[in-house]
Amino acid sequence: MHVVQSAAGLSKPALYLEVRAQLAALFAGERNGLANAANMTALLHEALPAVNWVGFYFLQAGELVLGPFQGKVACVRIAIGRGVCGTAAARRETLVVADVHAFPGHIACDAASRSEIVVPLLRDGQLLGVLDLDSPQLARFDQEDAAGLTAAVGVLLDSSDLIRWAQASRD
Ligand code: SME
Repeated sequence: MHVVQSAAGLSKPALYLEVRAQLAALFAGERNGLANAANMTALLHEALPAVNWVGFYFLQAGELVLGPFQGKVACVRIAIGRGVCGTAAARRETLVVADVHAFPGHIACDAASRSEIVVPLLRDGQLLGVLDLDSPQLARFDQEDAAGLTAAVGVLLDSSDLIRWAQASRD
């Protein structure tokens, strides 16, 4: 059984290094993108402090559609350009939102969420979806989280047939 190591006492860069190593071990020998994405949300939810929602939205037929996640039930479809997720997808860049109430058009799924980070899934210039994390703490996420989560997404994309899965279900 896979055991998620404790985050206690680790700096953010050290924690994300540990997360990357655990993801690589978790994905070893398994390329199913949906299964690996699902396990990744469980690992991140357990490993990262002060996170109340973590999950994927995948690009399907021109909109973001809810994928595997941990947390409260969430909205299923997000148009490109809408909310934090749709804005990060449209810009194809990571968005760090210190106060979701100050973000115009923020889509509230869990009323407890106060800050958010959204990392696009990009492979060969193609947008596959986004990874979204919410926190009940204001300004929970910073550039170290952005760098760590981008690297974590890279492990998923390198280890999994996510492109094939996303393309197969896109239309
Ligand atoms: N807050 C997101 C919507 C997704 S939930 O946070 C799970 C947004 O504004 O796009």
